Amino acid sequence: MKTIFSLAVLLIFTNLACGQTENKPAKETTITVGDGCEGCEAVYESPVPFEELSHIDTLPGFEAAETKLEISGVIYQPDGITPAPGIVLYIYHTDQNGYYSKRGSETGRHGYLRGWIKTNDKGEYKFYTLRPAPYPNASFPAHIHPTIKEPGKTEYWIEDFVFDDDKFVNDSYRKNAENRGGGGILTLEKNEYGIYTARRDLVLGKNVPNYK
Ligand SMILES: [Fe+2]
Repeated sequence: MKTIFSLAVLLIFTNLACGQTENKPAKETTITVGDGCEGCEAVYESPVPFEELSHIDTLPGFEAAETKLEISGVIYQPDGITPAPGIVLYIYHTDQNGYYSKRGSETGRHGYLRGWIKTNDKGEYKFYTLRPAPYPNASFPAHIHPTIKEPGKTEYWIEDFVFDDDKFVNDSYRKNAENRGGGGILTLEKNEYGIYTARRDLVLGKNVPNYK
């Protein structure tokens, strides 16, 4: 009888132990990529969880903007062919005067002109925003900063979105561009609604150091 009781206790504890093993959270395997990314952690300041992001975002101030932009494209896997769904793209830029003006909750150099997008099943993204101005008293093009967050990898920056007709997008700028994620120089075309449209496809990890 005692033996049977001991066996039963052993079985119970064995089951519990197995259950505990199975219920342990999977170890987080985040791969570090890129070579540092000042301010990229702002991707986690998304007002909604990543799962709830849409592949289209409209940034604050778009409706009232004098120069409206619609920027879209497809994000591809590193092979440059396969669309990449579920990729978070965080963007931020200056206002029409070249400042990262704030409205309260933004951290670091980030202003209120920012947005979060997650690619759809076709790898597509799109955002609407106003055209930023260059920094005052500087010789750097007006730009939109993009940050990429892939599942299982640390966030990393890619080449800024800049504009082909910007006087600071000169030979020197073009020559020194690293083209991370692919080239970032946009050619704008005005559509029937008076919105300036441009397309930029991105390739994950392209020209990004330490990408794996
Ligand atoms: Fe900037």
